[in-house]
Amino acid sequence: MKRLSIFVSGNGTNLQRIADYFANNPEVKIVNVVCNNPKAYSIERAKNLGIPLRMINRQEFNSEAFIQEMKSLDLDLIVLAGFLWKIPEDLVKAFPKKIVNIHPALLPKYGGKGFYGEHVHEAVVAAKEAFSGITIHYVNEIYDSGEIILQAYTKLDEKETPDSLAAKIHQLEQAYFPVVIEQVLLQQH
Ligand code: GAR
Repeated sequence: MKRLSIFVSGNGTNLQRIADYFANNPEVKIVNVVCNNPKAYSIERAKNLGIPLRMINRQEFNSEAFIQEMKSLDLDLIVLAGFLWKIPEDLVKAFPKKIVNIHPALLPKYGGKGFYGEHVHEAVVAAKEAFSGITIHYVNEIYDSGEIILQAYTKLDEKETPDSLAAKIHQLEQAYFPVVIEQVLLQQH
């Protein structure tokens, strides 16, 4: 059985989709949800899904104890599903090629500090880009720079707004993220 931990900070639509996708798959278990934001709707979702919830503050998140706690869960993959803190180097080292992130743009453009959620879409629309999309990638020590697993594209319309673009990106995330997670798990030795 493959064991996942899902890290979240916000609404949790990706968390919900991943949980629903694997709900009837006995080979995949979401062991816990790690959340850094006490106001996140993800908390409700985790409760409704019956998945153990681990709230963290910044001090805990940066501690060796947290790394050991995560290691003790015998995880096959950590999934960052709208998690907005940078992953500490020691945690990355403890889970080599075992952390994946989804980013709502075509990296390396519109990545790095400050580029998350709607800020990304505002910047993409303001720059009048012809395309945007999603990037699913492994997490390394440098923000938004790990090896890319998949990018999916969407075209911007002339009248595109950050909100309309967000809806298109949401569709791509819902379609691709669980499938890519499944592929990553299947490719593990
Ligand atoms: C998603 O669009 C995800 O790509 C983005 O946050 C949103 C979370 O939505 N992630 C980042 O911006 C990471 N830099 P959700 O909480 O509804 O899944």
